[in-house]
Amino acid sequence: MTERVMAPRLRVEDEALDLSLRPRRLDEYIGQDRVKENLKIFIEAAQVRKEPLDHLLLYGPPGLGKTTLANVVANEMGVQIKITSGPAIAIPGDLASILTVLQEGDILFIDEIHRLSRLVEEALYPAMEDFAWDMVLGKGMGSKSVRLRLPRFTIIGATTRYALLSSPLRDRFGATYRLDFYDLKSLEEIVSRAAKILGVSIDHDGALAIARRSRGTPRIANRLLKRVRDFADVRASGKITRVVADEALAMLEVDDLGLDDIDRKVLRTIVEKFDGGPVGLETIAASINEEADTIMDVYEPFLLQLGFIDRTPRGRVATRRAYEHLGLPPRDPANVQQPPLF
Ligand SMILES: Nc1ncnc2c1ncn2[C@@H]1O[C@H](COP(=O)(O)OP(=O)(O)O)[C@@H](O)[C@H]1O
Ligand SMILES: [Mg+2]
Repeated sequence: MTERVMAPRLRVEDEALDLSLRPRRLDEYIGQDRVKENLKIFIEAAQVRKEPLDHLLLYGPPGLGKTTLANVVANEMGVQIKITSGPAIAIPGDLASILTVLQEGDILFIDEIHRLSRLVEEALYPAMEDFAWDMVLGKGMGSKSVRLRLPRFTIIGATTRYALLSSPLRDRFGATYRLDFYDLKSLEEIVSRAAKILGVSIDHDGALAIARRSRGTPRIANRLLKRVRDFADVRASGKITRVVADEALAMLEVDDLGLDDIDRKVLRTIVEKFDGGPVGLETIAASINEEADTIMDVYEPFLLQLGFIDRTPRGRVATRRAYEHLGLPPRDPANVQQPPLF
């Protein structure tokens, strides 16, 4: 079966699933304890001072709960949230028309904030810093610059690529939180919670089996739960146990670490085509017909986390663990280091 468990672009169905399962309040938001604790203080401090929340930057791989957390923050603050994204704001004027309709304290969520154009980004600086919008009226000699006052608002930025953010932009956020991959216990809770909301019958071991293969990612946990439920409905009278989950996931070609077809292709390419690396990401992407960005955002972070690949200045290298996981004998270090004979 070639069903992609982790499509780079969300399908409509997945978006609907995301929406229906999204926690609304901080105490429903599972895991990420360090971030939650910091955020609680950050929110309370703003509330005590009766001020809008300072700008907040969230980063981490897709599906870990950045959008969810932005919405949670809006709920906790009791303010409105407007949602946009870097690529959606083409020119400064687009940004102006969003900012001018915000009310005091409102949140503007900018997803993929690393994709803002230079021009828009520069227009954003005075807006973030001084709640001001500079515009030039007229042309040539007679033109003059006027400064509009904006309501005091909060930007929550989200990105999968912290490194691509310019430092002036980074510096304008009062707090920056990195979301990490979730541990097994949190993922099990997320699966159980989602099952309850979806009215799916599942036991603890069933939830654990799904959690274990979710690559540390709530969105994947939810998606797998849905697929396993379909299987359980057809083959196992609706109840998800460990056996049912294992069977369903095997059918979906999700292995016991949660790696799917594409993950394995990435590893096999490094190992088999490039003798373990180092090999550049673009080259890997080209040989498996994927976009380099997708591999970098979606696949690579978890493979790094598992310690299956290393990043070196000359490219990606497969580790001994990757060989083991693929069931291949490790590269013989003697062979690798030996200089050519002639
Ligand atoms: N901490 C969490 N607790 C419970 N469910 C979560 C949590 N974080 C994310 N999810 C689930 O995962 C889905 C994807 O999260 P999302 O916020 O869209 O991720 P991101 O914006 O980082 O890509 C959400 O719809 C929600 O159902
Ligand atoms: Mg998101």
